[in-house]
Amino acid sequence: KTLNDSSGSLNIFKKEETSDGALINSSGKESAVTITVAGASGDLAKKKIFPALFALYYEGCLPKHFTIYGYARSKMTNEQLRTMISQTLTCRIDQSGNCGDKIEKFLQQCFYHSGQYNSEEDFSQLDKDLKEHEGGGLANRLFYLSVPPDVFIDVARCASLRASSLKGWTRVIVEKPFGRDSESSAELTRGLKNYLTEEQIYRIDHYLGKELVENLSVLRFSNLVFEPLWSRQYIRNVQLIFSEDFGTEGRGGYFDSYGIIRDIMQNHLLQILALFAMEPPISLDAEDIRNEKVKVLRSMRPLHIEDVVVGQYKSHVRGGVKYPGYTDDKTVPSNSITPTFAAAALFIDNARWDGVPFLMKAGKALHNRRAEIRVQFRHVPGHLFKRSFGMDLDQATNELVIRVQPDEAIYLKINNKVPGLGMRLDRSNLNLLYADRYSREIPDAYERLLLDAIEGERRLFIRSDELDAAWSLFTPLLKELEARKVVPELYPYGSRGPVGAHYLAAKYNVRWG
Ligand code: NDP
Ligand code: BG6
Repeated sequence: KTLNDSSGSLNIFKKEETSDGALINSSGKESAVTITVAGASGDLAKKKIFPALFALYYEGCLPKHFTIYGYARSKMTNEQLRTMISQTLTCRIDQSGNCGDKIEKFLQQCFYHSGQYNSEEDFSQLDKDLKEHEGGGLANRLFYLSVPPDVFIDVARCASLRASSLKGWTRVIVEKPFGRDSESSAELTRGLKNYLTEEQIYRIDHYLGKELVENLSVLRFSNLVFEPLWSRQYIRNVQLIFSEDFGTEGRGGYFDSYGIIRDIMQNHLLQILALFAMEPPISLDAEDIRNEKVKVLRSMRPLHIEDVVVGQYKSHVRGGVKYPGYTDDKTVPSNSITPTFAAAALFIDNARWDGVPFLMKAGKALHNRRAEIRVQFRHVPGHLFKRSFGMDLDQATNELVIRVQPDEAIYLKINNKVPGLGMRLDRSNLNLLYADRYSREIPDAYERLLLDAIEGERRLFIRSDELDAAWSLFTPLLKELEARKVVPELYPYGSRGPVGAHYLAAKYNVRWG
């Protein structure tokens, strides 16, 4: 089904029907929906969820009749919630300046309900409020669990209480972490499924909502020049790199019991890898895409400790400024060995990728902020330009870089003749820099994902079997690291990370990009 969206471009994913209620029309804009953000007083709600909802409203993407409820234990009036939201509307739309009217109208649709996360009574009060807004008509309800994981199941239970008696759908967005290992994840899934069907559960990985990650399938499957090269025959290695130039500031408490492998690798980077490496799906339907991702994950070798390097940042003085070490954070135990950096080599044992190292690197407090996929191709066979004209073509192989953030771009490193008399070769980029090519601002990942959840599109959400497969890969490694109490290699705040990562890459004849 292809529909034109308001921007005039083709949106091939919007659907006319959803499998869990079929109660929104093709644009989803005419029907009513209530969106309840549990944990509305928290960091994520303020930073991401409310701004994303406002951006959707501003763009005319929310259904005509929408109501937003903040729910949390903190006492707050509707007015206080509105003030809080308006103070944190740091979204891209707000930056465009002249949207005061729209903000006011949006805020009038925002309400607050205070209650406990495990109290059926409090949720039945909320239900009454929601019903008033629904006016006896369709009750399409989206709950966003922006709360710590130990209350996920309580909220799911309470939120689902009235679902079966309502005319309309109930969907629940669940934030990460989805457990700490295979067992706890399975337990969480079982707990959620006591109250919700798999179709109602929207496990969010916001990296799947990033523009360049969503573009991966388009790049591969709609360009003849890429797909034939997408295999062990032409690709030497693939690198998935996440780096942040700040530490765990403010989130040390959460981070210390998870660490970078669970925080970034097992979810964000692995999801990118699965999309990158999957076989062509038979359609763009959510189940077809997720089936292919599961196949990739199941074809992967569980990680070995020998193929992993862990690090932790230490304090560092630069330009007279002291940058704190990880354990300087008051919420982190001073003897913590939780990794804030990890590098790993992963392998997919299928016909397409046999023997190709997929190297992942993720770290906090490094020298820059970036998320990239780097695809290094094999060297050109034959001797025509080898070791001549000033370049070693065994080194200067083609490389495709998909820069997810910042400054979204796709560029291909090629060898080119330097113009002029004589013959000298040079490395150049074929460069698609989004800021130059597209004038539209790129929506925040949460905007896309919230809209998808409202429209019943599950393609960018994690299915439970995907989650199981992802944990199966990482759980043995995590257990071993913890059982052996592996001490991370220290690296200075703002550096390029531990040298061990370079040895790991060298073991597979790879140089980090
Ligand atoms: P917060 O720690 O800010 O918690 C959200 C709200 O939950 C708080 O405002 C508080 O509201 C309530 N809460 C806090 N601690 C407890 C507790 N022990 N028991 C019951 N309720 C509690 O979390 P965030 O907003 O940072 O994150 C929300 C969810 O999103 C978490 O699962 C987190 O892992 C995930 N996440 C967060 C990201 C971020 O950048 N912040 C990024 C990715 C995922 P009140 O006391 O008013 O009820
Ligand atoms: C979150 C992690 O999932 O992603 C954080 O918990 C990390 O530790 C964040 O900082 C990065 O997201 P983004 O979109 O800012 O790259």
